[in-house]
Amino acid sequence: MSASYEVRDGVAVITLNNPPVNGLGYATRRGIADGVDRALADPAVKAVVLTGAGRAFSGGADIREFGSPKAIQEPNLLSLLKQMDNATKPVVAAVHGTVMGGGLELALSCHYRVAAPGTNVALPEVKIGLVPGAGGTQRLPRVVGVETALNMIVKGDPVKSEVLASLPGQQLFQKIVDGDLLAGAIGFALEIADARPLPRVRDLPLSHPNADAFFQFARNTVKAMAPQFPAPARCVDCVEQAVVNARSKNFDAGMTYEREAFVALMMTPECKALRHAFFAERAASKIPDVADDTAVRTVKTVGVIGAGTMGGGITMNFLNAGIPVTMLEMKQEALDRGVATIRKNYEAQVKKGKLKPEKYEQRMALLSTTLDYAGLKDADLIIEAVFEEMGVKEQVFRTLDEVAKPGAILASNTSTLDVNQIASFTKRPQDVVGMHFFSPANVMKLLEVVRGEKTAKDVLATVMGIAKTIRKTAVVSGVCDGFIGNRMIEQYSRQAGFLLEEGCTPEQVDKAVEKFGFAMGPFRMGDLAGNDIGWAIRKRRYVEKPNMRYSKTADLLCELGRYGQKTGAGWYDYAPGQRKPIPSQVVVEMIEQHRKELGITPRKISADEIVHRLVFSLVNEAAKILEEGIASKASDIDMVYLTGYGFPLFRGGPMCYADTVGLFNVVQQMKRFAQNPHDDASFWQPAPLLAQLAADGKSFNP
Ligand code: NAI
Repeated sequence: MSASYEVRDGVAVITLNNPPVNGLGYATRRGIADGVDRALADPAVKAVVLTGAGRAFSGGADIREFGSPKAIQEPNLLSLLKQMDNATKPVVAAVHGTVMGGGLELALSCHYRVAAPGTNVALPEVKIGLVPGAGGTQRLPRVVGVETALNMIVKGDPVKSEVLASLPGQQLFQKIVDGDLLAGAIGFALEIADARPLPRVRDLPLSHPNADAFFQFARNTVKAMAPQFPAPARCVDCVEQAVVNARSKNFDAGMTYEREAFVALMMTPECKALRHAFFAERAASKIPDVADDTAVRTVKTVGVIGAGTMGGGITMNFLNAGIPVTMLEMKQEALDRGVATIRKNYEAQVKKGKLKPEKYEQRMALLSTTLDYAGLKDADLIIEAVFEEMGVKEQVFRTLDEVAKPGAILASNTSTLDVNQIASFTKRPQDVVGMHFFSPANVMKLLEVVRGEKTAKDVLATVMGIAKTIRKTAVVSGVCDGFIGNRMIEQYSRQAGFLLEEGCTPEQVDKAVEKFGFAMGPFRMGDLAGNDIGWAIRKRRYVEKPNMRYSKTADLLCELGRYGQKTGAGWYDYAPGQRKPIPSQVVVEMIEQHRKELGITPRKISADEIVHRLVFSLVNEAAKILEEGIASKASDIDMVYLTGYGFPLFRGGPMCYADTVGLFNVVQQMKRFAQNPHDDASFWQPAPLLAQLAADGKSFNP
């Protein structure tokens, strides 16, 4: 039984005990239901206290049961709440740590609630595309007011118990207990044991002085903020129904409305995508052949080599997490520049009120600099972010091999180079790993952890743990040119180039892709990152692969010196100091000229074709990556694209999107694209894995 029962001083104490966060799985629900029955039947019991063991009252539904019949097996959460409604003795919820989702809904169906200070209170269902499904939208407004409740429900973020307890007129918490929560709860239960009638949240009145106008305003606001997601607007509808039905004192009508909204949302592709992303993120931290309990290495100090764009951003991640960093450079000026950039970034955060001045000072105090490798001899983890040249990497890793202490993890931030070769420059290849951050490294969530042939399992486990500490989403990639993300983007960029040759303008392509939901289209992205970076990569790559057909338009652009925002001109023009892209006549003429030279008569290409050619080029390469074992599961590829490349979250990532379209349909489309004389027919040869899955009627994600 995942809930225990005991009687203390005439009070029955039911303790939820389902680590890690007392999820309301079947056994726990059964334990609560049996405990309540037992308490009501025992004449020696005057009141009931419901509490949680460990670090939480309850985090809500048990995610391990998601989608399984156990999730709805009786007693389900709704019947449990009904049992509470009908209880004839007072039930007090004693909450601490976390009280979220179904856990909060359970507490709201108790007669009273007492809380430890610092408890995180939330209804986070909106984050997986749902409305709360067990009365959250009906009961929370009754105890904290319509506006506070609605805010919490549409955002889904936790609010501290003491903040809620200080709201005027609130009835969420009858008491904040400093010290021993259970003792305080039992004391409180004894005080109210004989009070009748028993107060029920469902019986509380609920109104808003300008209900119609308020809800209309709220609906417009959430629609403007999250136009692609249906759930926030449905949250508004549900709270509105709570108010409407309160007028006729028909609580159950509101419950039914909420339930219907919950069930309808569950079927939407947006909700499926969000749930997929939620599980994909958790799954990404699991590496098939690395056990969860692998002993990790201690990382207390970090060294960063190179104080340029990436080195500075990487350093900030560790300073933010309270881990001291020593930065190494070749020259004092480079160190000074690197430190000045870090300061500038922090000062901007202080100015915006996002960082307290004393925190800024604390972080800077953790930073030291050196020109001498001896300064890194005590570092537990050393990350190299020097120029992208094998010769430079070789020199750095040979030196590191001499100075780094035994067991130190040696990581490279290379975006394209062979991590196995880098490891071979040392006599300890088992300690070498790729840590591929994305720019700006202090902001972007994604970290590709590149597993070399010889990388030790405990090194991987340690780096995955570190990623969590510095709040990154880590995904493991095998070694190949570009790893998961950049290897796929190469095909996407090639396809974008073909689209220009066939008749599109950069603006048309970007607009179509942004309408699909990407944060930025390929050409705006190029202008932001710098078109010269891709140019340099192409020069290297396409010398190695002379038969790889690609459009020369991007090279022609770079030959004009149009590198992007940094040179004030790229695929678009930019007014001085501005980031707004202005369609460029020069670029249009450049593309037209190039088309003429190729003998192509331009045609009008639909937004749908643009999007599918680009997205399916990602999908086809991803299938190869999966087949080669570079990624261990399709959901890892989705995570890379959601957290590193601005792929629309409501579509769940490229693999999830392809599954939604249906792999058979994806392959059919690819066959049509292959007929296009100006495209590269070999480009659209479906990857064997994709062809096989499509033929078997299967999908990438199980
Ligand atoms: P950067 O040119 O801004 O910085 C490189 C820094 O390394 C310079 O400050 C340079 O003085 C220093 N440096 C060069 N050789 C050195 C040596 N032997 N010892 C110590 N310091 C040395 O370059 P960036 O953009 O920071 O790139 C660094 C690495 O990160 C490259 O491997 C790059 O491929 C990778 N990367 C870059 C991304 C980007 O968007 N810029 C994204 C992900 C990875």
